[in-house]
Amino acid sequence: MLKKPVRISITGAAGQIGYNIIFRIANGDLLGKDQPIILQLLEASNKKSQKAIKGVIMEIEDCIFPLLVDVSVHENPITAFKDANIAILIGSFPRKSNMERSELLAINSSIFIEQGKALNSVASRDVKVLVVGNPVNTNTYITMKSAPDLSYKNFTAMLRLDHNRAIAKLASKLNEPVSSIKKVFVWGNHSLSMYPDYRYATVNGVLIRDMINNNSFWNKNVFLPAISRRGEEIISIRGASSAASAASAAIDHIKDWIFGTENWVTMGIPSDGSYNVPKDIIFGFPVKIKNSKYKIIQNLEIDKFSRKKINLSIEELKNEILSISHLIR
Ligand code: NAD
Ligand code: LMR
Repeated sequence: MLKKPVRISITGAAGQIGYNIIFRIANGDLLGKDQPIILQLLEASNKKSQKAIKGVIMEIEDCIFPLLVDVSVHENPITAFKDANIAILIGSFPRKSNMERSELLAINSSIFIEQGKALNSVASRDVKVLVVGNPVNTNTYITMKSAPDLSYKNFTAMLRLDHNRAIAKLASKLNEPVSSIKKVFVWGNHSLSMYPDYRYATVNGVLIRDMINNNSFWNKNVFLPAISRRGEEIISIRGASSAASAASAAIDHIKDWIFGTENWVTMGIPSDGSYNVPKDIIFGFPVKIKNSKYKIIQNLEIDKFSRKKINLSIEELKNEILSISHLIR
């Protein structure tokens, strides 16, 4: 028997990440080759964006995706999020070279307040929301706080790209396949203050930190800056922020959220107070997922260095929230 279609809303659908994610989702890369889907695409109402999304629709039609039951274009989040089972919030103003994240916050907060309210009114009550648009942790916080009738557990932020970057870096350092690397994750904010942590990570079951010469030096001077600066590096080399890898990470995130994972993965989620991260702020944590419910990995030792790094992200996020708190009251 045919499965009931899943409704997926995507914002910023004509942007770079949108252009990379839509075709993969329509092809069954997210929910499998037996799951029909309906796409509800939201774009900004200006003429240029609405024209661009029409072009994307033409290309979608020409792909004749068998799983795609329907696709619609929206200018209004109220219609775009109607009955959504999954909502991927990408649409926002992207950071340009030399632009501070705080500037971005001010520009983007109104978008996420409006979209949070719309999700609150019309989305499925168990909608899975993944926010991708930057500054992603605080945009997720704004969206979540603007949707008081939905559970906080419905809202997640994308730190999966940082997680994937950390795995890629370790795999290349050790000259091992990416699939052999386990238990790496990233604490905190998707910003320079993030703390990619491989203290527990293994390759083929062996602790990675024991395999790296001068581990502490490499961690502080090579690994941490490489991961936290990767986004910036891509912007300066490519002339635009990462798009295909961001789309791929978004698919990894939602797929694991729905189907579960034995591996530790990183999700940006509202803190429950674990590891002394203040409640409700959206923070990258190591999680495992079963029956579509994530659980934070508990009882990891937080040494002095880790505490300092985690606290940096906490302070940064508290300040970001402070700067927009008057808008979400
Ligand atoms: P882009 O500029 O190519 O696309 C953004 C799209 O959003 C545009 O088409 C724009 O018209 C649309 N948009 C703007 N306001 C909108 C609104 N109110 N409703 C619906 N759509 C709207 O940008 P991009 O490269 O696709 O990046 C999107 C966001 O993702 C940026 O904020 C970027 O910084 C962020 N990003 C996050 C990560 C992460 O790891 N979390 C990684 C890469 C990029
Ligand atoms: C990335 O990590 O690639 C992006 O978040 C960079 C950015 O600021 O858009």
